[in-house]
Amino acid sequence: MAIKKQSVAKLTADALMSSIQDHAITVGVIGLGYVGLPIAVEYAHLGVHTIGFDIDEHKIRTLQKGGNYIMDIDSSLVASVVKGKTLEATTSFERLSECDVIYICVPTPFTPNKDPDISYIIHSAESVAKTLRKGQLVILKSTTFPGTTTKYVQPILEKVGLKIGKDYFLAFSPERIDPGNQTWHTGNTPIVAGGVTESCTSLACAAHAIIVSKVIPVSSPAVAEMEKLLENIFRSVNIALVNELAQLCDRIGVNIWEVVEAAATKPFGFMPFFPGPGIGGHCILIDPYYLSWMAREYDFETNFITLAAEVNESMPFYVRSMIEREVAKQPITLAKAKVLMLGMAFKKDVDDLRHSPALKVMELLMQDGFKNVHYHDPFIPSVDVHGTMMKSQKNLTPATLKKYDIVVITTDHTCFDYSMIVKNAKVVIDTRNATKKIRGSKKNVVLLGSGS
Ligand SMILES: NC(=O)c1ccc[n+]([C@@H]2O[C@H](COP(=O)([O-])OP(=O)(O)OC[C@H]3O[C@@H](n4cnc5c(N)ncnc54)[C@H](O)[C@@H]3O)[C@@H](O)[C@H]2O)c1
Repeated sequence: MAIKKQSVAKLTADALMSSIQDHAITVGVIGLGYVGLPIAVEYAHLGVHTIGFDIDEHKIRTLQKGGNYIMDIDSSLVASVVKGKTLEATTSFERLSECDVIYICVPTPFTPNKDPDISYIIHSAESVAKTLRKGQLVILKSTTFPGTTTKYVQPILEKVGLKIGKDYFLAFSPERIDPGNQTWHTGNTPIVAGGVTESCTSLACAAHAIIVSKVIPVSSPAVAEMEKLLENIFRSVNIALVNELAQLCDRIGVNIWEVVEAAATKPFGFMPFFPGPGIGGHCILIDPYYLSWMAREYDFETNFITLAAEVNESMPFYVRSMIEREVAKQPITLAKAKVLMLGMAFKKDVDDLRHSPALKVMELLMQDGFKNVHYHDPFIPSVDVHGTMMKSQKNLTPATLKKYDIVVITTDHTCFDYSMIVKNAKVVIDTRNATKKIRGSKKNVVLLGSGS
């Protein structure tokens, strides 16, 4: 009897495996944001029938009309896969029953107290459970703490009464997409996948192999969950190190940018990281807190990681003090000083404002009584600063720049004309070393971490 049961289980896994290998599957993607939409478009582009699910009706309507809202994705590609019906978009979650492979790509923010908020994952798992059937593979892609897949998602799916690894399959595979990166994208970036059982891992690897060049299997979802946190905390810690050194360099009169570039000439054992006004986005700022929260359950304090997060989060305050120092050198008050911030996005060449350090700097200036803080960002038409709606200054012309007492480069978008900025602004505070090639000996540029 047991042998018969096993062979039925094998049949389900084998059948799904051969459907995956033949691309004869329907892929479902829950959450069509920066992570989910590129995955959906990638499958659809390769001819795999894909259904995208989101609770945001505006996004769904845009996609249904063949429109696109993610900068990195080729809009003509979205239009063609929608027209060809390989990509469908819907808010009808009962259609999850049509999907053989389901990706969960929903947000994992933190609460105001910086505790993990995995409610979006829970809601998605509950949606999947409603129509879970034999032969479905569920892959969680949202970044989260180790144990989420097996302790939170699996129990929700298990209530349906199907057997994991036999009837249905579950894995965690972290996302590595880097919006704005012109070199590395979904197709050529290797990814890691860890399933609850061996068959879960093999199926998750096979499903990914359709859209990525290399998949690295690991022994469990927890290894894959922890691996992603290591990647992001590695960045957080190294950025914190140079941010701290940048502040020290300002005191001792040494240029941190030159120091890092010199250190980077070592061909082994060193990887350059650069200082800035702080970190933002949905990953590097949040993820350390996911791990610290989880560690406390095991009576473990991740002091080193927490300290790095603290240093990075102090950087907007440091930039505020740089700005106020420059105002103090001019015959104006804080209230009258005209400040133009260049770039609101959390990093260059993206339209993502989430946890942007530029936004934090703007908030801090307003709290301190600045009445004339404006910004220009071609990718961010408007921002809400604690209920005050602000619009991007339309054109960045010499005349615009001349109107301001201080111009602050908060995001080093490639499209900015830095020569024109340095030539026409009274004072430029450069927090990104964006003026490196053109500032020469110009006295109006104040560079973060330059020691001047
Ligand atoms: N943005 C990145 O560069 C990046 C990179 C790697 C990993 N990640 C991780 O991927 C996850 C998603 O991030 P993102 O940047 O794509 O977020 P996002 O906000 O751009 O997209 C998430 C989407 O999920 C939708 N959504 C929310 N709840 C839903 C639900 N219950 N059902 C269906 N859809 C729902 C939202 O409407 C939104 O469209 C996060 O865990 C993030 O940490 C992001």
